[in-house]
Amino acid sequence: MLQVTFIEHDGTTHLVPAPPERTLMQIALDNGVPGILGDCGGSCSCATCHAYVDARWADKLPTRSETETFMLEGVPEPRESSRLCCQIKMQVALDGIVVQLPEVQV
Ligand code: FES
Repeated sequence: MLQVTFIEHDGTTHLVPAPPERTLMQIALDNGVPGILGDCGGSCSCATCHAYVDARWADKLPTRSETETFMLEGVPEPRESSRLCCQIKMQVALDGIVVQLPEVQV
């Protein structure tokens, strides 16, 4: 089974199983990871699944869509590594991916 590590803002780490084709947002919710809300259900319209993806996986991620880029402009403390977890589907190339969660979702 593929795996994802979510790291909360306080450093609490969650290593969870990650079925292929499930999004990082769904995987976080499936496993009760605090800090990912997913209010819009994954339609890229709420930005409550904002997270920072470790740079080691940056070149393996799908390109940000215009909509994702627009939504990320409204999150608190955006960074170069900011992504919406609902826009990233798990795949073999992302096995072991490390995702840091922001202090708050708005
Ligand atoms: Fe709403 Fe990702 S769940 S933008």
